Amino acid sequence: MAKTIIPAPGGISIVEPKAALNLANRVVTDVPTSFRILQQKATPPASVPPLTDGVRVVTAGEYKEAALCLAEAFAKDDVARYFVDVPDREHWTEEEKWALHVEILEYVTYAHILKGLVTTIGDFGAVALWMPPGQNMDDMWTILRSGMWRLNYRLSSEGKRRFFNEFLPLLHDVKHGVLGERDDESWYLVYLGTRPSAQGKGYARKLIENVTKQADRDGRACYLESSNPINPAIYRKFGFEERRAVHLQRGEKNIQLDIMVREPVSVENESEVKQ
Ligand SMILES: CC(C)(COP(=O)(O)OP(=O)(O)OC[C@H]1O[C@@H](n2cnc3c(N)ncnc32)[C@H](O)[C@@H]1OP(=O)(O)O)[C@@H](O)C(=O)NCCC(=O)NCCS
Repeated sequence: MAKTIIPAPGGISIVEPKAALNLANRVVTDVPTSFRILQQKATPPASVPPLTDGVRVVTAGEYKEAALCLAEAFAKDDVARYFVDVPDREHWTEEEKWALHVEILEYVTYAHILKGLVTTIGDFGAVALWMPPGQNMDDMWTILRSGMWRLNYRLSSEGKRRFFNEFLPLLHDVKHGVLGERDDESWYLVYLGTRPSAQGKGYARKLIENVTKQADRDGRACYLESSNPINPAIYRKFGFEERRAVHLQRGEKNIQLDIMVREPVSVENESEVKQ
């Protein structure tokens, strides 16, 4: 039977660094440059909630279109640009910075196709990256297969400090602190973006409700970090509540992230409300 080869960002094959085989607690910045064929298999993909209202799952071959949608939605987002608009890249043109912004989102999107759930609606009008309960993209296979390892070389020194030393540990620790024992049992909305030309059509609502309905059926919480001050009001409409605010502090301005959690609504209560 013919084997389907999924194209990975940056043209990387299924490889793993020689020195990384026993790196249970590896540091992402230590990814070495020599690679060999990897035998390890990926974790099975998470179960997909029933698809309704035009919501569909993004396939590996579509990662570029999905990432471009997110890149457009987050073109001016302070957090997305935090790793690109850095003092040691001031000499870069806007085109070079845009290319890196898109590239970062391609790696992140591909990692979620491999280990999470990526959904879209319309002609890539909106895209959501979810990490389902019990899943994460921290394993070496996903870092390599998705191209995330390339950030080690594509980000500037300051970009790396912001991404690897500040942003990732902060998000990891805060999520664990807020969710506690439920950290591995909750849905995580990592990115949600609607193209500017497609906003206001209810796309975000459909992508969110696709998962929150499943989370309600399973009695699971949903978690997100919001990077835009106008978004908490939008997420409150879907049952999310602010739990904490955290700040990124290496830039010229202080960037706030609002941490929000949506507790599951019992299906019984939901039908009582509707009656
Ligand atoms: C936030 C975002 C995802 C909303 O996408 P959207 O597809 O336009 O949202 P919807 O059309 O589904 O609207 C959902 C609800 O939010 C409300 N809403 C959407 N944008 C709003 C805005 N700018 N101000 C106030 N309310 C807004 C809508 O009125 C709607 O409420 P309703 O269903 O009660 O009428 C989109 O604006 C976006 O991509 N922004 C940039 C990226 C971003 O910040 N993403 C979130 C990261 S945490």
